[in-house]
Amino acid sequence: MNLLQNKFLSGYAVNKINWQDYQNLSWDDQSQLLNCTILHPLNKAQPVKKSYQYAFLKNFVKALEENNAEVHDAVYEQLGLLCQDKDDSDNYAFKHYCIPSQKQMVTLKESKTFISEGTTGLCSWQASLALSEWLLKHSEKIANKKILELGAGTGLSGIVAAKCCKAKFVTLSDGSPAVVNLLRENLSLNFDNEDSNIESRLLLWEDVSESDFSEHNLPEVLLGADITYDNSVFPALVGVLDKIFTITGNSCKLFLAATIRNEATFREFLSFLEAKGFSANEETYVRPSDDLVWDESTPIRILSVTR
Ligand SMILES: C[S@@+](CC[C@H](N)C(=O)[O-])C[C@H]1O[C@@H](n2cnc3c(N)ncnc32)[C@H](O)[C@@H]1O
Repeated sequence: MNLLQNKFLSGYAVNKINWQDYQNLSWDDQSQLLNCTILHPLNKAQPVKKSYQYAFLKNFVKALEENNAEVHDAVYEQLGLLCQDKDDSDNYAFKHYCIPSQKQMVTLKESKTFISEGTTGLCSWQASLALSEWLLKHSEKIANKKILELGAGTGLSGIVAAKCCKAKFVTLSDGSPAVVNLLRENLSLNFDNEDSNIESRLLLWEDVSESDFSEHNLPEVLLGADITYDNSVFPALVGVLDKIFTITGNSCKLFLAATIRNEATFREFLSFLEAKGFSANEETYVRPSDDLVWDESTPIRILSVTR
C-alpha cells in the first residue's frame, strides 16, 4: 500500500499502475487505500490534480468491478465527489515526492499542463526524478559543495540536493520569470526561511556574465535535468557552461540528466560539448527499488561533464 500511496501522491501515470494487484481488496483494505491516497492529509491540504484523483479512483473501481469484488460505499462516494470536481479551473496542483530512504517528502506546486505560460519549466520532468535519485545514491559527490542548478524548473533535483544530500548551498536558477516565481513558492513549501541552504534566482543562459558570480556563490557543482531537449538551446547552454567553467578555472563539474527522446539530438549535444573542450562520461547505476517512484519508459542518461 505504501508504494501505491507514493505513486498517487506524486501523480504517477494511472495507466502504468498494475491494478490487478488491488482487485481483490477487502472492504477494510479498500478503506485503507482511500485513507492513504484520496483522504491522505497531504492530499487534503495540498491536493494532487483533481482529474488525476478521479482517473486513479476510476481505474481502481474498474479493477474491482472486473473481478466482481464488492466496492466499498465510501469508494463510490469519493468517486462521485471527484466526478463533480474533476474539471476545476485551477492551473496548478500539487505533487508530493516521497523519499523513503531519507524519510523525507518534497511537496511541489506544479502546472497541470506540460507547457504553460510559454515555458516547459512549470512541471517536473522525468529527468529531474532520475537526477534526484542518482544524487541520493551518490550524495558524496555533492556533499559540502556549492551547487548551481541550471533550468531548474519546479526545483525538484536541487531541493533534493539541499534537503537530503548535505549540499553546502544550492542555487536554483531558471531563465523564465514565471518559473522563478514558482521556485520561490516551492522553496517556501519545503524550507524554513531562517535556516535554509537554498535560494532561487533568474539566470538566462544567454545573459550570464562574470559579474553574476562572487566568491560566495561560485559553483563547485552544476546540475541540469532535461535541459538538452532541443538543439536550438545548445549554443546558449554550452555557452553558459563554457563561461562558468572558465570563471571557476575549470574546477567545477556538471551532473546532467538527459532524456533521450532522439538519439541524434543527444549526439549533437555531445558534439557541441566536445567542440568547447568538455568531456562527458555516462554514469551507470542500479536503480533502487524502494526510493523515488517514477516511470522510466523514456531512457534517461546521467552524464558527468568536466573540462
Ligand atoms: C524541460 S524543462 C526542465 C525543468 C526541470 N529541470 C525538470 O527536469 O523538471 C527546461 C527548463 O530549462 C529552462 N530554460 C530553457 N532555456 C533556457 C535559457 N536559455 N536560460 C535559462 N533557462 C532556460 C526552462 O525555463 C525550463 O524551466
